[in-house]
Amino acid sequence: MDLRDALRIPAADVTPEDVWKQRRRLVAGLAALPALGIAGCAEAEPPLPPAPTPAPAQVQDGFSTDEEPTRWEDATSYNNFYEFGSGKSDPSRAARTLRTHPWQVEVGGECGRPGVVDLDGLLEGLLPEERIYRLRCVEGWSMVIPWLGVPLASVLRRFEPTSRARYVAFTTLADPEQMPGVRQRTIRWPYREGLRIDEAMHPLAFLATGIYGRPLPQQNGAPVRLVVPWKYGFKSIKSIVEIRFTEKMPPTSWNQLQPREYGFFANVNPRVDHPRWSQATERRIAGTTSRLVANRIETRLFNGYADQVASMYSGMDLARWY
Ligand code: MTE
Repeated sequence: MDLRDALRIPAADVTPEDVWKQRRRLVAGLAALPALGIAGCAEAEPPLPPAPTPAPAQVQDGFSTDEEPTRWEDATSYNNFYEFGSGKSDPSRAARTLRTHPWQVEVGGECGRPGVVDLDGLLEGLLPEERIYRLRCVEGWSMVIPWLGVPLASVLRRFEPTSRARYVAFTTLADPEQMPGVRQRTIRWPYREGLRIDEAMHPLAFLATGIYGRPLPQQNGAPVRLVVPWKYGFKSIKSIVEIRFTEKMPPTSWNQLQPREYGFFANVNPRVDHPRWSQATERRIAGTTSRLVANRIETRLFNGYADQVASMYSGMDLARWY
């Protein structure tokens, strides 16, 4: 079955077992491929599949967009992944050595079924979905990226969070042997992020194992990363090795480093400026325009996902709780 066809089948459809198994192998395969050195090396790969045409319902519910996508070349060479250096092109060069197979994730804290699972176990039985999301970095640039993966809520539910689980904390691998940036004291390693439980369970919150119909390259957070499209990009933590349900708001890396600059919620908000960067507009890196002169467009509240997510913050002062 063609990858695009596999992804277009709505998850709600009844799926014959053989088709389901084939798709299951596809996701597992996508997660495993970077370890074989296949991802992260665009030149050696077959051509990208054609850009998908979003169904109107998907656009409406925020699962897709008809905005021009960012080029693969840009999305995989202009990255933030401090474990591999602080320059935008450092990760695409340095992350090739990251071993993403085998990969285990420890899940614990306030849940009924804690444990250590490999990536196959984490994704077992879940159908791969494609989401085309806007990614807005607090530095003032943005992209449009077709992700491949599964809803975060489907993964979290299988660990049976208890009623005391009010937050979910995520941690990235911090291995100085494989990650040269971890040998420097830029941030306090490991990289940590967190969400409130209702945010984590929101249908837009996504665990990605691929982009553009291909396995996730190391520089983009292989083999599994978070994607939270209504928040600034630093919330979308890469290369996750631990997920923890907590009662208290967990510490997060950028907030620990500079609490006045990086909030826990970090919802995209054009009216709340970062001390160093205005958030009113953004440089949209999409299509073939040069990254340096990319289109400047107006930033939207919650990165354009207000219809879907604003109700989670009703009564909250969005400026105070940035
Ligand atoms: N996750 C880890 N572990 N380390 C990082 O440095 N950078 C964050 C986020 N996730 C980061 C991370 C930031 S600041 C952004 S904008 C996005 O990843 C960038 O994702 P991309 O490189 O795939 O565009």
